[in-house]
Amino acid sequence: MSETERVARATAHYRDLAPRYDRATRLIDGIRRRAMAALDLRPGDVVIDAGCGTGWCLPYLLDAVGPSGQVIGFDPSDDMLSVARARQAVRDAGNILLSRGAAHDVELPRGADAVLFSYTHDLTQSAQSLRNVLGAARPGARVAATSTKLYARWLWPLNAYLRWSHREYITDFRHFDAPWTVLADFLDDFRVDTGPFTQHYVARGRLKSGLAR
Ligand SMILES: C[S@@+](CC[C@H](N)C(=O)[O-])C[C@H]1O[C@@H](n2cnc3c(N)ncnc32)[C@H](O)[C@@H]1O
Repeated sequence: MSETERVARATAHYRDLAPRYDRATRLIDGIRRRAMAALDLRPGDVVIDAGCGTGWCLPYLLDAVGPSGQVIGFDPSDDMLSVARARQAVRDAGNILLSRGAAHDVELPRGADAVLFSYTHDLTQSAQSLRNVLGAARPGARVAATSTKLYARWLWPLNAYLRWSHREYITDFRHFDAPWTVLADFLDDFRVDTGPFTQHYVARGRLKSGLAR
């Protein structure tokens, strides 16, 4: 399946999901916060929220970078983005920049200090998408990713449930046992916090040099 076909499939799923997304995903609020904390953001930082969806992370990122920083979010789903835009309006923040686009070809301002991939399994399976998004960050930029992963193999009944329950959220189930596999190649000081008995992970590292365009 091409990137364009995957994105078309994802946006069709998220058309239905958008109005109930925040409520349906409230159990992952804590892990999203852990991933954002792993970015170690400072006032004045520029941070990219890749596949920002409804923008659940935007207020937290904004608080971390402050008025002198910038939060750049993008997503291919108009339905998800319209919720994010409502969030942006509530904060009345001129330093949140939202755009519609897919990771493999979105055009982003250069030189970001940090990049977040929060529950964006599809786009972290694509080296082309990662190269494009991470290419907008500076060498050494802090990168964090979180999402769902499979339990240990012998817990296969739970894994069967995970595949079923995530069929609307994920279109590319490659590396569902270790979703950080492709991302790890782009990062130095790479580390994953997870375990066989959890369906969550938080991966982090620093962008290798030689990617920025
Ligand atoms: C599970 S939601 C996560 C949204 C948000 N990051 C969060 O933490 O709640 C996945 C999002 O990824 C977006 N997405 C899917 N494929 C994408 C791609 N190729 N590039 C960018 N975003 C994509 C979807 O439209 C959706 O909004």
